[in-house]
Amino acid sequence: MEGTERENSTLPVDEYISHQRGMYESLHRKSLDNPEEFWNEHGNIVDWYSKWDRVLDDSNAPFYRWFLNGKMNVSYNALDRHVRSHRRNKAAYIWVGESGTEKIVTYHGLLKRVNAFAKALLDAGLKKGDRIAIYLPMIIEAPVAMLAAARIGVPFTLVFSGFGANSLAERIRDCGAKVIVTADGGNRAGKVIDLKKIVDEAVDQTSTVTEIIVVRNTGNPVDMVEGRDFWYDEVTKEQNAYVEPERMDSNDPLYILYTSGTTGKPKGVVHGNGGYSVWIANTLKWAFNPQEDDRWWCAADIGWVTGHSYIVFAPLILGLTSIMYEGAITYPEPDRMWDIIEKYGVNLLYTSPTAIRLLMRYGDAYPAKHDLSSLRVLGTVGEPINPAAWHWYFKTIGKSKCPIVDTYWQTETGGFIISPAIELGLGSLKPGSATFPLPGIDPVILDEQGNETPSNQKGFIAIRKPWPGMMISLNNDPERYKSVYFSKYPGKYFNGDYAMKDSDGYYWLLGRADEVMKVSGHRIGTIEIEDALVSFPEIAEAAVFSKPDEVKGEAIVAFVIPKHGVAHGRELTEKLKKGIRETMGPILIPDEIHYVHTVPKTRSGKIMRRVLKAVYTDQLPGDISTLENEASVNEIREAIETLRKEVGR
Ligand code: PRX
Repeated sequence: MEGTERENSTLPVDEYISHQRGMYESLHRKSLDNPEEFWNEHGNIVDWYSKWDRVLDDSNAPFYRWFLNGKMNVSYNALDRHVRSHRRNKAAYIWVGESGTEKIVTYHGLLKRVNAFAKALLDAGLKKGDRIAIYLPMIIEAPVAMLAAARIGVPFTLVFSGFGANSLAERIRDCGAKVIVTADGGNRAGKVIDLKKIVDEAVDQTSTVTEIIVVRNTGNPVDMVEGRDFWYDEVTKEQNAYVEPERMDSNDPLYILYTSGTTGKPKGVVHGNGGYSVWIANTLKWAFNPQEDDRWWCAADIGWVTGHSYIVFAPLILGLTSIMYEGAITYPEPDRMWDIIEKYGVNLLYTSPTAIRLLMRYGDAYPAKHDLSSLRVLGTVGEPINPAAWHWYFKTIGKSKCPIVDTYWQTETGGFIISPAIELGLGSLKPGSATFPLPGIDPVILDEQGNETPSNQKGFIAIRKPWPGMMISLNNDPERYKSVYFSKYPGKYFNGDYAMKDSDGYYWLLGRADEVMKVSGHRIGTIEIEDALVSFPEIAEAAVFSKPDEVKGEAIVAFVIPKHGVAHGRELTEKLKKGIRETMGPILIPDEIHYVHTVPKTRSGKIMRRVLKAVYTDQLPGDISTLENEASVNEIREAIETLRKEVGR
C-alpha cells in the first residue's frame, strides 16, 4: 500500500468552489475568538425546550459542560419536529436487505415505531437514567431502539453485532444494562449469525439483565426463556402509542460507546444530548452540504461511532433521507455498492478507505456497469486514505467531478473534527490530507516535550480548546478520562494520533501513536487480543502488533509463547482462531499466529511491540532510540538480535 507516499500538489475541484475559502476562514476564526456568539447562533440547529444559560462551563475542566442548563430531546429533534413539517411523509430510511428486500420508512412511520418501542421499554419498568444494551444488525429496529431510549432518557450502549459473547458481557457489566434488545439472527454474506445465542451466553456472565427483547429478522429458531425473553413484535403491539419525550438536560448522557484503548479494558465513551447533537448536525452540514432532496448513504456499521452519529442522529436531525444496508458490500457480487447507488440515486456516499481498496481490487468493470451520475460528494472515514485509493475513488467512482471529503475524527470527538467543508467553501484538496479543522477545533502538532513542531514535521496531534461534540466522560471512570486524554499535555486534549501540518496549513493524519491498531478501519487494542490469547490454557505469553496490509490498512500479527510441552502448529492455531471468534468476535482474529520462545520486553516488563513490528516488517535499522522510550537502546538491540534469530530475518 502506498500509505506513506504524499502528493504536494493541490487538486482543485472547481465546480465545488461555491463560496470563497474566506468564508471558512472567518467562521473558523470567529468560532475560536468568540465561541459564545458562535455557538449561541449554531446551537439553534436543534430545537430546545428551554435555552442554555451559558454556552460553555469550564469551571470543572476537563469535564466541560456545553449549553449549560439547556433542555432538549434528541428523538424529538430527529422525528417529531419533522413530522410537524413538510417532511412528515418524507423517507427517513430506505432500507435494503442483503437479499434485495427493500423497506421505506417515512419520518411519520419512524416516529410511530419509536413511540411503540419507547412504550415497550417503559412497560419493561425502565426509568430515566437506567441503561439498556442494543445488540442488533443493520436493521431498522436499531435506530428505532436508539431513538426510543433517547426519548425516555435511558442511555444505551449499542454493541457491534460482530463482537462475541465475552466482549458483549464486558460491556453489559460496565454499563449495568437492565434490558437487551437483539434479533433472532443477522445476515452476512449469505450466512445467518445467531445473535440470540451470543446474547444468552453473555447474559449468563452478568447479573443486571432482567429482560431480553428479540426482533424476528431471519426466522432463525431461538430459545426463549419464559418471563425473561419477549418478542419485539409482541411488546410493540400498541401501534398508536405516544410517549412524551423526556426533557433532557444538555449534559445528561445519551449513550455509551465502548472503544479500544491501550489497556485490555475498553473505554466507555459517554456522549451527552445537547452539545453532541449540535456538533454532529453542524459538522454534517458543513462538510457535505446536504440538500433537502439528497439521498445520503453512510455505509458504515451502526455499531461504530460513524453509524451512531451519521447513520442515525445527524441525518435525522437534519431531516435527510438515508440509505441503510444490511449485508456485505461485495454480496452477492462485487458491484453491490454501485448497484445500490444507481438504483436509489445516492447523492452523497460516505465509506471507509478499506471498502474503497477492496472494491478497487475487483477492477473498473464493476462500477462501469452502473450509472453513478447521481453522486455529488464522496466521503471517507476511519483511517488514512492512500493516494492510489483516493484517485480511484475520485476518478472511477466520482468521474473527477465529486470532491473527496476525508473526515478525520474519533469515537471520543463525537463528529468530524478535521475535514474539507463544502458548505463553507471548499478550497483545493490534497489526496490523503483531511485538510483543515472545522469551526470550533483548534489543533496543534506537538513534540514529546509539548513544543509545537515546525511545518512538515511529524508530531502528536492535540486540541487546545473544548468543542461541543466531545465526550463528557468515560463511564464509571472519570479518572481514566483525565489521565488518558488530558495528562500528556495538561489543558489540551491528546488523542493518540500522529499528524503533521504542511507548509500550506493542511493536516495529514499519520496513524496511531499508541498500542491501538486500525484494522479495516476498526479500532482494536493490541492488548485486548493478547489478553484473549493468554486466556487459553495452552498459551503462556502473547505479543500482538500490526503489519501493513494492502486492503485492510493493517493486519494483525500475534507472536505467542506456548506453555512448556504444548504441541503447537496448525491445530493449535485453528483452536485459537475459533476461540477468539466466539468470545471476542471475528474482527479480532489474528491474521498470522507465530510460535516463539521469547518476546522482547523492557526491564520493567513491558512488551516492546514497536520493536517486534519494526523487525517483522523490515523497517530496521533506523533510529531505534525512538522505538521504545522506556527501554535502553542496548536492551532493544539485544531484543532485536534474539528476535531476528527466532523469525529468521
Ligand atoms: O487514528 C485515527 C483514525 O481512527 C481513529 C479513531 O477511530 P474510532 O474511534 O474507531 O473512530 C473511527 C470513526 C471516526 C483515529 O484516532 N482515523 C479516523 N479517521 C481518519 C483517521 N485517520 C486518518 N484519516 C482519517 N480521516
